[in-house]
Amino acid sequence: MDLNKLKPVSGVDVANKRVIVRADLNVPIKDGHVTDATRLTRLVPGLKDLSARGARVIVLSHFGRPKDGPDPELSLRPVAAKLSEILGQPITFVPECIGPEAKSAADALKPGEIAVFENLRFHKGETKNDPAFAKALAANGDLFVNDAFSAAHRAHASTEGITHCLPSYAGPLLLEEITALRTVLEHPKRPTAALVGGAKVSTKIPILKHLIAKVDKLIIGGGMANTFLLSHGVNIGNSLAEPDLVQTAREIMTEAKAKGCAVVLPEDAVIARAFRSGEAHATVPVLAVPGDSMILDVGAKSVAHMSDVLKECRTLLWNGPLGAFEVPPFGEGTFALAREAARLTKAGELVTVAGGGDTVAALNAAGVADDFTYISTAGGAFLEWLEGRELPGVAALTRD
Ligand code: 3PG
Repeated sequence: MDLNKLKPVSGVDVANKRVIVRADLNVPIKDGHVTDATRLTRLVPGLKDLSARGARVIVLSHFGRPKDGPDPELSLRPVAAKLSEILGQPITFVPECIGPEAKSAADALKPGEIAVFENLRFHKGETKNDPAFAKALAANGDLFVNDAFSAAHRAHASTEGITHCLPSYAGPLLLEEITALRTVLEHPKRPTAALVGGAKVSTKIPILKHLIAKVDKLIIGGGMANTFLLSHGVNIGNSLAEPDLVQTAREIMTEAKAKGCAVVLPEDAVIARAFRSGEAHATVPVLAVPGDSMILDVGAKSVAHMSDVLKECRTLLWNGPLGAFEVPPFGEGTFALAREAARLTKAGELVTVAGGGDTVAALNAAGVADDFTYISTAGGAFLEWLEGRELPGVAALTRD
């Protein structure tokens, strides 16, 4: 895949054209209300630009994972309403994404107008990447723009199949996401650090293997650090760990050393007897974890050491929390290091890119998300990129 072949839609004449935009409107919703509109907000500049240039914009997206056809709980109608509110412009919601109703709605759009079509996954052809479904989607547009980096790890009809039917371009958010990841992984300011946290090593093995070849320092935190401590013969008490991956952890450490990547593990830990809010807790060296306790966060010494590592670095890639941040007080380690990363970013000393799953929630809880250089809107796609995998939705935009 040659990323230089991505064609930005910014240079294309879109006036009066029916432009199909694959967006990711898969946002959290409760009682019919969007609870985190970050993904919508980040789509707005691209949509406004197309609208201002006279495009007739048709937004396509999946929403959740409907099991068996249409599910009123997973309609995009309330999401379209929220998008319209943020955009400050009316949006027509169309309760179908293919067929005569969708076609006449697309044809009726005037230059500058925007419509959101119903959840693509109400049709099985979407996730099956059925060519007939892709063709039916394409029938409503003159050109296709993918602005859903966060769904580009799926080879679905609206991300891959449709590119065989229409001239296809990269949207500004997709390009922004790829640029941020390349800044960190391909041509970073050195030294570079990656912080990888989260519960399990098993889900992150390919990421760790890929990153040790790319970065100078690898900081490991979260439950997964326990497996690494175990591999050093440390007694971790009742802590979450994956003993069957101890050998893999050893191999990663050995490979990292051979590649000149320093692995940083916690040296002290916040421990408790149970994983409960308000549970009595203490900070101890990792070599002194009592048998009846579990590690739930990194301690202040670890944060100080990790902060020193960040101070030596010019680039940081952050994925995953350092502790069980959702339950107080076990988020303090993550929050303190996040504040330090934000401070260094604001001082112009560190480029910070974060993304994937829980990471953004943790940085939001720390109140520093706005101070990072770049926060990805992607979960699974961000992780697959970190593994060094080719994302089918991106690859499809680079074909000749
Ligand atoms: C996400 O939320 O990561 C994307 O919208 C992809 O959703 P999916 O995992 O259901 O394909």
